[in-house]
Amino acid sequence: MERPGAGTGSLLILGLETSCDETAAAVVTEAGEIKANVVSSQAHLHAKFGGVVPEVASRHHLELIMPVVREALDEAGATLENVDRVAVTRGPGLIGALLVGLSAAKALAWARKLPLVPVDHLQGHVASLYLGPKPLDLPFLCLLASGGHTLLLDVLERGSFTVLGTTLDDAAGEAFDKGARLLGLGYPGGAEIDRLARVGDPEAFAFPVARVPGLDFSFSGVKTALLYETRSLDVEERKADLAASYQRAIVRALVERAREAAEKTGRDRIAVVGGVAANSELRAALPEAVAPPPELCTDNGAMIASAARYSVAVPYPRYLGLDAYAQAI
Ligand code: KG4
Ligand code: ZN
Repeated sequence: MERPGAGTGSLLILGLETSCDETAAAVVTEAGEIKANVVSSQAHLHAKFGGVVPEVASRHHLELIMPVVREALDEAGATLENVDRVAVTRGPGLIGALLVGLSAAKALAWARKLPLVPVDHLQGHVASLYLGPKPLDLPFLCLLASGGHTLLLDVLERGSFTVLGTTLDDAAGEAFDKGARLLGLGYPGGAEIDRLARVGDPEAFAFPVARVPGLDFSFSGVKTALLYETRSLDVEERKADLAASYQRAIVRALVERAREAAEKTGRDRIAVVGGVAANSELRAALPEAVAPPPELCTDNGAMIASAARYSVAVPYPRYLGLDAYAQAI
């Protein structure tokens, strides 16, 4: 079997991601070509709780991380011998979950005396746009919408960004997940609402689109409005209309603010990343925006390996003392 790292001279980055409920590993070349991208979602394990249970997530990361790494290397036709450096999400996320990935990455890098690249998860989402075959040119305005974050970013260089706006309460993905729970849908809720909304009327209910000052977001009002509606009518009967109208309100808020930020900064390129960027209505409502393929919107190892290309590597063995962080820094 041909080994991409051997003989061809191409350097391989092994990227690990375990910040939430996806155990992921990928092999990416220095040029940003994805050789393998393996994601094992634990969503089914958390579904009965309606959200991620941190302790359950950590335990499963522990069981899955090495099989997932092995599968990624196999798929890339490589071994650890062909890996040039190991990249891993250091934060933000669930601390126990992060520590599993970080410890595994340290062990893998240490065993081969490789450098380790600690990657910020948010930088990772943005770096999903720098992967081949068509990496996005700079500068651009980026909407990062996931289960944990909703941010508007001005991106002038690949290793950093400036935060222009953020959510004052829930993240957009969190609003989708909480809304889905109110409608009795499964977890994760975003994809479920997306699916159901296709057969519903988005104008059936006038859910509020919060307009807070500046370029920030707020999703608590729309969530409360949905809660009140579910109390006063037969949810089962109106499920699709509720899902469509709720999704419309969230998407409208995201689109309005993204366009406003692009105008204010004078950026003519808009990009959307993060789990919510997989939403079909958001993609349709912002046709001018660049978005990664859906599998690179939700958490994955390829985006972490991609970000490592623009982050500082910590030489062997200094990284052994590195800690994870739960909150954005
Ligand atoms: O980026 P991600 O995988 O993890 C975090 O960093 O949080 O994002 C997960 C979030 C979840 O809240 C999920 O409901 C949402 O992304 N999501 C979607 C869709 N697919 C995933 N939201 C709306 N529409 C979708 N199709
Ligand atoms: Zn994420």
